[in-house]
Amino acid sequence: MEIHIVTDAVERAGVVADVFVRTLQESVGSGTVLGLATGSSPVPAYTELIRRHREEGLSFAGVRAFLLDEYVGLPPGHEQSYHRFIRENFTSHVDIDDSAVLSPDGSAADPAAEAAAYDRRITEAGGVDLQILGIGSNGHIAFNEPGSSLASRTRVVGLTRRTIADNARFFENSEDVPVRALSQGLGTIREARRIVLTATGEGKAEAVAQLAEGAISARWPATSLQLHPDVTVVVDEAAASRLELADYYRYARGLEHSGPVAPHS
Ligand code: F6R
Repeated sequence: MEIHIVTDAVERAGVVADVFVRTLQESVGSGTVLGLATGSSPVPAYTELIRRHREEGLSFAGVRAFLLDEYVGLPPGHEQSYHRFIRENFTSHVDIDDSAVLSPDGSAADPAAEAAAYDRRITEAGGVDLQILGIGSNGHIAFNEPGSSLASRTRVVGLTRRTIADNARFFENSEDVPVRALSQGLGTIREARRIVLTATGEGKAEAVAQLAEGAISARWPATSLQLHPDVTVVVDEAAASRLELADYYRYARGLEHSGPVAPHS
């Protein structure tokens, strides 16, 4: 796991956007498949990618995107649907066609069948090249709440009271927050070839510490990412505040800019 502790929102957005650009460059011509997250954490990176598209000619032509999750009961056009969120905050501002942005259909008559079909659609598309993730204060990624199987696939999940409360800020009334979601599983997410996770604020500090340094356990679902070979974690100082090895991560990032032999101090 490559941990970047950044000083401000601009640096955080830049480091995450750089991972996107590297992935787009590597899979040029073959149609990059992006895995996109909603929530507030990735928005500055999306804004930076939109800027690079407008000002620097960064192109997403040929890109397809799969969303991590969707609320059960909300059709794609609903104003609180994750499908709409991602269009408004990212894809409609760059050259990614709406038809190339796929999400589980929250309004499907048979949500369990829709979840299984969505999982298959990701595989049939050749898998995700880069998955961006946020993390819940309880350590969830996508809506894999504590207790999720580390091998789980896309399925219908019940949201914890804590997640419902955390997400109430996006809704006019807290009673309107859906209590179930269709979510990619931990096993599904780990099949992405590259992952970048970003988090900010003291409220995420315990989850980030568990993610990077805790024992792998269903108690903290994000710890399953320790089994993935290509994960970049980009966090601000507050979200990094409980990392015991923070000094080592800063030192290791510094070495990336030095030659093969570090200068003696
Ligand atoms: C969103 C998602 C969630 C969020 C997490 C953090 O698609 O799957 O896991 O990433 O709840 O949300 P924010 O970024 O709003 O703190």
